[in-house]
Amino acid sequence: MYQVLYRKWRPRRFADVAGQPQVTETLRQELRTGRIAHAYLFTGSRGTGKTTCAKILAKAVNCLSPCDGDPCGECEICRGLDSGAVLDVVEIDAASNNGVENIRTLREEANFTPAAARYRVYIIDEVHMLSPGAFNALLKTLEEPPAHVIFILATTEVHKLPATILSRCQRFDFRRIAPEDIQNRLLYVAGQEGVPLDPQAALLIARLADGGMRVALSLLDQCMGRGAVTVETVEQTAGLAGRDHLFALAEAAHEGDSSRALETVAALYRDSKDMARLCEELTAHYRALMLIRTMKDARPLVAVTDGEFARMQADAHSMPLPEILHCLDAMQEALERMYRGGDRRTEMEMALLRLCAPELDLSLSALARRVSALEHGAPARPQPEAPAQAAPAAPEASPVPQAEEPPPQAVPSPEPPAAPEKAPAPTQDALREGARRLEEWPEVLQEMRALSPSTAMAFTGSTAYVSGDYVLIDAKDMAFELLRRPAQRDRMRDAIRQVTGRVYKLGPYKKQETAQPADPLEELAGRAEDAGIPVIRK
Ligand SMILES: Nc1ncnc2c1ncn2[C@@H]1O[C@H](COP(=O)(O)OP(=O)(O)O)[C@@H](O)[C@H]1O
Ligand SMILES: [Mg+2]
Ligand SMILES: [Zn+2]
Repeated sequence: MYQVLYRKWRPRRFADVAGQPQVTETLRQELRTGRIAHAYLFTGSRGTGKTTCAKILAKAVNCLSPCDGDPCGECEICRGLDSGAVLDVVEIDAASNNGVENIRTLREEANFTPAAARYRVYIIDEVHMLSPGAFNALLKTLEEPPAHVIFILATTEVHKLPATILSRCQRFDFRRIAPEDIQNRLLYVAGQEGVPLDPQAALLIARLADGGMRVALSLLDQCMGRGAVTVETVEQTAGLAGRDHLFALAEAAHEGDSSRALETVAALYRDSKDMARLCEELTAHYRALMLIRTMKDARPLVAVTDGEFARMQADAHSMPLPEILHCLDAMQEALERMYRGGDRRTEMEMALLRLCAPELDLSLSALARRVSALEHGAPARPQPEAPAQAAPAAPEASPVPQAEEPPPQAVPSPEPPAAPEKAPAPTQDALREGARRLEEWPEVLQEMRALSPSTAMAFTGSTAYVSGDYVLIDAKDMAFELLRRPAQRDRMRDAIRQVTGRVYKLGPYKKQETAQPADPLEELAGRAEDAGIPVIRK
């Protein structure tokens, strides 16, 4: 059976953990000298090695012949822990076991001495999800831990932990991993897999991954499906190809050519381009221009190809900073309004019009742009200049990703489809056939909690599968009801993208029961939430 790369290449020794010396060196030193704490706290962003290091630590404290602070990987205990024969290391997902009862059970169990190993180790992931009662119960154990018990708490959101818990743990902060460290690891993994990987392609993946090794390895995994990995493969897989329309829009806006800007939007809309996605892409584009304009070397922070970077540099230096900031501001505002339920196409058009004609825009950033232009004796909107670069390709020619269409029997969408489907959607049976479990689902839900707590709550205990371009969710029908709202679907897709690094379409895993009439109160509450009004549910 195919094992995804990031699982297959999960480091088994501290020596193989990339880019976290402040953690791995300290832990190894403690292990060498036998000064082991009873409670550790691992914090930091996703995919940086928290769970990995927790597993290594749990093994190292129990290993029969540890080697320089690393587990040997070969003794009875190490192998038993790998195979599941030794049960003294327990991993708990606090997101789904967050009640006081769960922790009480754990405490009773912890009183028994370990069966085979020296220490019983509890790894509690997403620990910030524990209820206040559960935290109190955990605190009692941390105050007087049995000698044979070690706790390793892991979280992405350390600010949600009570100070009383923090003060009882030895804390380790995991950093976002530097692009070069990710690049090296990718080259190593590809080498082991016998797949040629261009170092520049590895660097591009590393930049796209934003410091997370798991996202980087997932992306490499997808790229490797096509054989040797080049910069072009990465561009295609990550959807970086065909971004001429961003340059075209930014250039039209800069020249104040509102007619061309709106025509470009219309063409993209015809091609089923999702307007919120377009808005996000333009935001990222202007952010890159801002960084280039401001920093000595913005290259490491901008995840694009070298060719595009050169083009951005030229654009950035022909635009005054207040203009760039105004554009960025207008795009972010438009995106917010889209997520609050505004009509996407209209929002996009209005935003571009503001960029083309700052005199129509009464926001502060627009005024700042105009004042700065006056101070410099130039019109707020520069006159069209001879373009320094080759004219960008017509947007119609660029392959634009197709808008999402739910598979048959998926949650019916209340909004009319943006454009006729291009290819028939695969049948649900065909999709289920090739599905594999989406291991990161708990993390997606974790991410979702920040975007929409009630929806995340409704999906508690659900599972999800990946098949082709789809994420198929196995959840209660009630949960799917929530996904009927476009804003919620967008958030779910967004959460998936943030964790997996890829845009998926959504569908149900099982055939849906015939949709029950939606509870009108629930519907109303949902709409209020979409508009940003907090709702308390009984
Ligand atoms: N620092 C790292 N060095 C090497 N691989 C890593 C590192 N961090 C994460 N990975 C890879 O990403 C996967 C997920 O990492 P994990 O430790 O579960 O991240 P998290 O910090 O979210 O708990 C691992 O299986 C491993 O392949
Ligand atoms: Mg983890
Ligand atoms: Zn061992």
